[in-house]
Amino acid sequence: MKVDVVLGLQWGDEGKGKVVDVLTPDYQVIARFQGGPNAGHSLHFADKVHVLRSIPSGIFRDNAINIIGNGVVLDPVMFAQEIDELEKLGVDVTAKIRVAKKAHLILPTHRMLDAASEAAKGKAKIGSTLKGIGPTYMDKTGRNGLRVGDILSPSFMERYERLKQKHVAMLAQFDFEYDITEYEAQWFQGVETLRRFTIIEGEHEVNRLLNEGKGILAEGAQGSLLDVDYGTYPFVTSSNTVCAGACIGLGVAPNRIGEVYGIFKAYCTRVGSGPFPTELFDQTGKDLQRIGHEFGAVTGRERRCGWLDMVALKYTTMINGVTQLIMMKSDVLNTFPTIKVAVAYEIGGRRVTEFPYETNEEITPIYREFEGWNCDINKIRRYEDFPQQFKTYVEFIEQETGVPVKIISVGPDREETIVR
Ligand code: GDP
Ligand code: IMO
Ligand code: MG
Repeated sequence: MKVDVVLGLQWGDEGKGKVVDVLTPDYQVIARFQGGPNAGHSLHFADKVHVLRSIPSGIFRDNAINIIGNGVVLDPVMFAQEIDELEKLGVDVTAKIRVAKKAHLILPTHRMLDAASEAAKGKAKIGSTLKGIGPTYMDKTGRNGLRVGDILSPSFMERYERLKQKHVAMLAQFDFEYDITEYEAQWFQGVETLRRFTIIEGEHEVNRLLNEGKGILAEGAQGSLLDVDYGTYPFVTSSNTVCAGACIGLGVAPNRIGEVYGIFKAYCTRVGSGPFPTELFDQTGKDLQRIGHEFGAVTGRERRCGWLDMVALKYTTMINGVTQLIMMKSDVLNTFPTIKVAVAYEIGGRRVTEFPYETNEEITPIYREFEGWNCDINKIRRYEDFPQQFKTYVEFIEQETGVPVKIISVGPDREETIVR
């Protein structure tokens, strides 16, 4: 068996939660491999919305094992809150969730460092979700971090205190006031919640499950343009969101990766700061935001909106080795008479089709225009029934990327999905 991977090809919020939820009946195991509670994955079914942050989107399906892999960073407070909400819904979380020992812990002081660092950056801030993601990954690569497995060690408190004091000294360098007393108490309660779960040797477990013939779906968080190496640096997150991140974050070899499902919105959004070549500042942008309900699932912040960017999409399809494309939120474009797609950038009078080192304001997107379909496609369930204008749009994307669009989403609900 192989591990199939679902990941976002833009700046996050492409609809990964929905897709994982739709695909889970075909898999026995769902595994998160990077990121942390900066993610917000929404699932709509039975007229309800559920937002997941650290817990894999397979949690609502019977019999699915949900693994939090070693590449994830976990905040015990937020984890416990999510567990609490799921238990209220009657989900048997302890039976379904397993947490890798090597996943790193987000400390209360990591959150403070995130906030202090962002405040100090002023206008140049990343627009972080302030969940402590960056500082925790810094401690991981800096070889200072605390891991989930450490909560089982007799010296846990000592190690916690040592790392906390290191952070306190760092925080003293900022003009930043904070009080973690209350959060710290919740954090230790969260650690107790974590102890109720099966803590696993993630890499051994994942490979064992594969060898037993179990289907594993790896669920990415964020999107490829937020990848720390290949995204719009420094306006990125601190993990490898691309497909290779699934190997690192779960301990699976590259030759055990199977299908790579690349998810994109039929247009483009971004939350937080940083370059966005096709961003629209006009009424069309506002319409996309309103119709698409483009507000952050975690922070409630407005998502910036713009047209689909084929230069970026081809780039992320390449980096990830995408084998199947999944187009989301197609219904949001129902009422636009003309739909545009950036097919190249003009930079300093030159036409550029390769995603460049720097994506700054010097870029002018070169658009190709498509006639809109001007009708409601939400009820369509077979590809044949889509209007010709819609098919032209989809087939153009397939031609440009060289990858088939296998799933089309026409609404937030599980049911509003067309598999070709
Ligand atoms: P994720 O972070 O990639 O899981 O995506 P989010 O959950 O943050 O954001 C996607 C939003 O779009 C959620 O509110 C979804 O319910 C919603 N959504 C997903 N697919 C569709 C779709 O096809 N049409 C519409 N209108 N909304 C969708
Ligand atoms: P999902 O999984 C959209 C953005 C933040 C900020 C930058 C760095 O729901 O798609 P961080 O908190 O990681 O230090 O923030 O990355 N960001 C996301 N944007 N969706 C996400 O996750 C995101 N996670 C982080 O807005 O610009
Ligand atoms: Mg999201």
